[in-house]
Amino acid sequence: TMPSLLLLFTAALLSSWAQLLTDANSWWSLAMNPVQRPEMFIIGAQPVCSQLPGLSPGQRKLCQLYQEHMAYIGEGAKTGIKECQYQFRQRRWNCSTVDNTSVFGRVMQIGSRETAFTYAVSAAGVVNAISRACREGELSTCGCSRTARPKDLPRDWLWGGCGDNVEYGYRFAKEFVDAREREKNFAKGSEEQGRVLMNLQNNEAGRRAVYKMADVACKCHGVSGSCSLKTCWLQLAEFRKVGDQLKEKYDSAAAMRITRKGKLELVNSRFNQPTPEDLVYVDPSPDYCLRNETTGSLGTQGRLCNKTSEGMDGCELMCCGRGYDQFKSVQVERCHCKFHWCCFVKCKKCTEVVDQYVCK
Ligand SMILES: *[C@@H]1O[C@H](CO)[C@@H](O)[C@H](O)[C@H]1NC(C)=O
Ligand SMILES: *[C@@H]1O[C@H](CO)[C@@H](O)[C@H](O)[C@H]1NC(C)=O
Ligand SMILES: *[C@@H]1O[C@H](CO)[C@@H](O)[C@H](O)[C@H]1NC(C)=O
Ligand SMILES: *[C@@H]1O[C@H](CO)[C@@H](O)[C@H](O)[C@H]1NC(C)=O
Repeated sequence: TMPSLLLLFTAALLSSWAQLLTDANSWWSLAMNPVQRPEMFIIGAQPVCSQLPGLSPGQRKLCQLYQEHMAYIGEGAKTGIKECQYQFRQRRWNCSTVDNTSVFGRVMQIGSRETAFTYAVSAAGVVNAISRACREGELSTCGCSRTARPKDLPRDWLWGGCGDNVEYGYRFAKEFVDAREREKNFAKGSEEQGRVLMNLQNNEAGRRAVYKMADVACKCHGVSGSCSLKTCWLQLAEFRKVGDQLKEKYDSAAAMRITRKGKLELVNSRFNQPTPEDLVYVDPSPDYCLRNETTGSLGTQGRLCNKTSEGMDGCELMCCGRGYDQFKSVQVERCHCKFHWCCFVKCKKCTEVVDQYVCK
């Protein structure tokens, strides 16, 4: 439990950021990686939960009850943010914002598709991290998965390896991540209620992606690779696959609006009703071409683009038709690698001049 305490305590050291953080930044700020290596920390420091930035009152209570979970929530949020940056690396909006006091900052003030994705992917990150932590014995309130043996598992395979506890991860993430939405006050049918319903739906979609993609993994035993005996358990999917799945959900996200009765309904009733696995949004996205403090758009000036691509990373679309500058850049790569007995690889450094393009 030492590393988690370290992370917790350094997160508390960063609490001066708390003043800078608005409601929009929320518990994601737990993901901010402390740079300091604290040598002066106090075990069991009590005020930790009151000092962590970005928690809602309900989340603070959960923090007090489940202090040892907090480091994993932070880790999960960070995994989610990293995945977001990967999935959107070639898009105008690349998962960063004007307000650099937080990862997502102001983008989150509008209920756009991008907001939907970030809620889903960070909730997914939390399920992932908690489920894994249970399996690794890091938490006192959970252990290996207790999922029942799948019916279609061949009879002579053993079920009983220690699996990722995705049931616990799902339940805990639901409790913690949704807490802040459940505490909000709003008038029935108001814009605020629309946002709360949107956030809850997207949190759930993120959690379900992890839950549904967890699958059976097995290991062979038996005489030298004969694999006559197998032991199997439940295992989380690679988080990249969860990210890919949620990116698809982003592409097919449903535009919704709040009704006077306080329900989300499709803007275009000809489309299919979203399932709990789908992402929804209530505001149109800005084009993210220009810097705009209100929408949290950084703009694409200075972004690298691909001259020959016709996709979003192509200079035409990335630069929003403003044009681009060309420059030469020297890239150093490892090359002519040779394997030496035994056991290391030695490489030369090769330099190559490549053309690069940046948006005006
Ligand atoms: C980003 O943060 C640094 C210090 O943390 C600050 O000096 C700078 O002004 C910030 N930039 C923006 C655009 O907020
Ligand atoms: C920023 O975006 C808002 C909302 O879309 C818009 O009303 C405003 O005019 C934009 N500001 C600038 C400087 O482009
Ligand atoms: C995103 O784009 C901005 C410029 O628009 C750039 O400064 C930033 O480094 C990019 N972030 C990532 C994670 O690529
Ligand atoms: C640019 O786009 C083209 C076409 O999609 C692709 O083949 C090429 O690998 C890309 N170049 C870089 C540097 O990403």
